[in-house]
Amino acid sequence: MIVILDFGSQYSELIARRIRETQVYSEVVSYRTTAEQLQQLNPKGIILSGGPNSVYDVGAPQCDSQIWELGIPILGVCYGMQLMVNQLGGSVVRAERGEYGKASLLIDDPTDLLTNVEDGTIMWMSHGDSCTALPEGFEVLAHTENTSCAAIAHHEKKLYGVQFHPEVVHSLGGMALIRNFVYHICDCEPTWTTEAFVDEAIREIRAKVGDKRVLLALSGGVDSSTLAFLLHKAIGDQLTCVFIDQGFMRKLEPERLVKLFQEQFHIPVEYVKARDRFLAAIAGVTDPEEKRRRIGHEFIKAFEDASKRLGPFDYLAQGTLYPDVIESADTNVDPKTGERVAVKIKSHHNVGGLPKDLRFKLVEPLRKLFKDEVRKVGRSIGLPDEIVQRQPFPGPGLAIRILGEVTEERLEILRDADLIVRQEINRNGIYNQLWQAFAVLLPIRSVGVMGDQRTYAYPIVLRLVSSEDGMTADWARVPYDLLETISNRIVNEVRGVNRVVYDITSKPPGTIEWE
Ligand code: XMP
Repeated sequence: MIVILDFGSQYSELIARRIRETQVYSEVVSYRTTAEQLQQLNPKGIILSGGPNSVYDVGAPQCDSQIWELGIPILGVCYGMQLMVNQLGGSVVRAERGEYGKASLLIDDPTDLLTNVEDGTIMWMSHGDSCTALPEGFEVLAHTENTSCAAIAHHEKKLYGVQFHPEVVHSLGGMALIRNFVYHICDCEPTWTTEAFVDEAIREIRAKVGDKRVLLALSGGVDSSTLAFLLHKAIGDQLTCVFIDQGFMRKLEPERLVKLFQEQFHIPVEYVKARDRFLAAIAGVTDPEEKRRRIGHEFIKAFEDASKRLGPFDYLAQGTLYPDVIESADTNVDPKTGERVAVKIKSHHNVGGLPKDLRFKLVEPLRKLFKDEVRKVGRSIGLPDEIVQRQPFPGPGLAIRILGEVTEERLEILRDADLIVRQEINRNGIYNQLWQAFAVLLPIRSVGVMGDQRTYAYPIVLRLVSSEDGMTADWARVPYDLLETISNRIVNEVRGVNRVVYDITSKPPGTIEWE
C-alpha cells in the first residue's frame, strides 16, 4: 500500500486514483497522522500531497518530523516537496515568478525516479514558492526554465520531491514517474485487482456479519447493485434486498431490475410496489423542495415498514464510496464499539434521519472504492452496461422532471417521452458521451395543429448535457437530425404532447434538472 498524507490539495484523491491505476492499493490520510501511526499502516511508500499553504506561513500544516527516519520511501508533491526541503534544512522562498500551467521538464538525471520520463516532457505546475537551497544529501534531478529544482532526490534515503503535479492528466510523463516510484522505488507488486478486491470483500463481509441478517435498499444504480451482488455471494440468504418502487423511475426500469436480479443473479428481491402512497404523498404539491421533502420522508416510512415486516435485521448495507469516507472521516462512529452506525439512509434522496429504533450497524464493502472502480467491479461480476454505465438519475426521479403537480397522467406522458429520448440517443451511439439525456414535462399548454384538429397540449423540454462531474455542464451540440427525430416521434407517439423544445442553457446559470 501507498499512503498519501493530505495537506489539503484538491488533487489528493486524484493521486490515490493514479496509484490505484498501477494496481497498487492507496489510501489518503490526514497530514496529522503520526510517524508511529504510519508505521502501523505498514505502507511501502508515502506521498505528501500538495496544499494551498506556504511552508513559512504561521500555522502551515506540518508533518511529524520523524517520518523522514522511518526508512520508507517518500515522494513530496509541490507543497509536499517544499515541506520536505524546509523540514530537512533547505530553504523555500516566494518565487520571483510563480509558475502556473504547462512547463517543459529538463532532465538532469534520467535514472531512478525519472527513468523513461522523456527529456522536455510537459508537466503541470502550480506554485508560487520555490526551493532555493537543497538539504544535505539531496540532488537536482530536473529543472524547468523558471525553477531550478523541479525534481529532487536523496537517493540513499529514498526521499524524493517534485515541484509539478505528476497526477494531473496534462502532465504527460506523470504516469511514468508514478510507476517508477511505486514499482521500482517502493517495490510494490501490482496486486490491487478487481478479482482480489472481490475475494477480500467477501472474506471481510463474512467475518463481520457472521450469522446475522443484513438489509439492503436496492435502487438500480451501479453502487447498490454491486453491493447486493457482493453481499449475496458472501452471506446468501442472510441478505434481504428491498426495492421500493415509488413510481418515479423510467419506463420498465423497475421490472427489468427485479427480473435481472431474480433471474440472472438468482438474488431474491422484495419488490415493494408503493406507487400509490408516493403519489398520494405529493398530491397537489407544486413546490419542488416540498416535493423532495415528502418523497424522502415517504421513502423512510416505506423502508421502515419493509424492515419491520421482514426483520429484525442487525446490519444495513450501504453503498458508501471512498470519497464519502474521506469526507466524513470520524462522523457516525459508535463511541462504545468504534463501529460506524447509520443514522441516515444514504439513499440517493439525501434525506433526513432514521427513526431511533431503526438505527443499524453498517456493512460497507465498497468503502475503499472510487466510482470508476465500482464500475469495474460491477462489470467484472456481470452487471449489464445499462446499469454499469447508467447516467446519473435523481432519487426522486421523474417527480422532479414534472414541473408543478405530479399526476399519474403526467407521469405516463413523461415516461413515454423519456423512453423515446433514450431510444434515439442509444440508436445514435452517443449515450456514453452525454452526462445526461432526458425529457422534462412543463405544466402549461400551448396551441398546435394536428391534421385538421387544433390541439392544446403539454410541451416537452429536451435536456441533453455534457459534463465532467455534474457541477458545471454545457448543453450538448447534437445533430439537428437527431433532435428532429426525437421531436417527431414524441409529438406523434405520445398523446398529450404537441410541442418539443431544446434547452440550450449551460450550468451555471441553469441547473441540469428543471425541478
Ligand atoms: P442540478 O440539477 O443541481 O443537478 O444541476 C446536478 C446533478 O445531480 C443530479 N441530482 C441528483 N442526484 N439525488 C441524486 O443522486 C438527487 O436527489 C439529485 N438531484 C439532482 C442531477 O441529475 C445532476 O446530474
